Amino acid sequence: MITVSLPIIVVVNGVQAKRQAENIAKHLNSRIVNVQYKVFPDGENYLRIMNPEEIYDREIVVINTMYPRQNDSFIETLMLVDAIKRLNPSRIHLVILYLAYARQDKVFLQGEPVTGRIVIESLSRDINSLLVVDIHSTSLFNGLNTSTHNILVTDLLVERILNKVEKPLILAPDKGALHRARQAAEKHGLEYDYMVKHRDRITGEIYMEPKEINVNNRDIIIVDDIISTGGTIALAARNMKKLGARKIYVAATHSLLIGNALEKIKASGVERIITADTLGFKHSDPFIEYVDISDRIATVINNLVKQ
Ligand code: R5P
Repeated sequence: MITVSLPIIVVVNGVQAKRQAENIAKHLNSRIVNVQYKVFPDGENYLRIMNPEEIYDREIVVINTMYPRQNDSFIETLMLVDAIKRLNPSRIHLVILYLAYARQDKVFLQGEPVTGRIVIESLSRDINSLLVVDIHSTSLFNGLNTSTHNILVTDLLVERILNKVEKPLILAPDKGALHRARQAAEKHGLEYDYMVKHRDRITGEIYMEPKEINVNNRDIIIVDDIISTGGTIALAARNMKKLGARKIYVAATHSLLIGNALEKIKASGVERIITADTLGFKHSDPFIEYVDISDRIATVINNLVKQ
């Protein structure tokens, strides 16, 4: 009888993804390699893999997040991959919990760069697979020579709210976010829709309404990828309240919550934000509830290493 043993997986974490790397490593039953990080007096970054013997011929999973310190984490991730590649692993799988610059995925105004493309093309060099948690738009994966995976987690966030709402309607704040609403709604057997924006021709005020479904007297879960300034969610929630919505919850994957975003969202009538642990820190306000997504990420990695 031939016994096939699964490859040993080693996890290497970026400087600000230690917590998540430990959780994912537990699910993978794998160990974490020590990396020494430092910054030179002139501001340049340095790193060194402290147990290089762990890398040779192994399946290596590199885990990092690109918020905060977007630019530093970009170069750190490239440095990690380069260091690993020089130690002859069997394969490198790169997990980016939050991909910075992803919203600049095209030229909006003539003269702009497509920063999302610069970032993703650089990150996908020298690796075998790239896994991104809820990428803003999968169009950024187009044309890459690496196997790419968008790990959606909206269903896990929505699941956390299901006992607090009655037959909720899942709403995306725009058409671009509809795939998240669909993913969660199909998983839990719920209705979903997206919102359209209008401008009042007289007052100039922008308002939103669902494309098809009436929200009057219904519980709503607004789903999105990123909450940055909170403007999108607050506008959506205020408008759904005006249209008669009952309870409004938010399920957003990456909650940056810049400046007074949280206050804005609280004031708009939202009950609570459910979010994933994808950034280099966690907000400590009880209004924000975190969902551990490490099991889902580990499942995707496990499937990849079996191939
Ligand atoms: C936009 O397309 C994104 O999916 C988010 O809706 C947006 O980035 C949220 O930004 P903010 O919180 O600043 O409105």
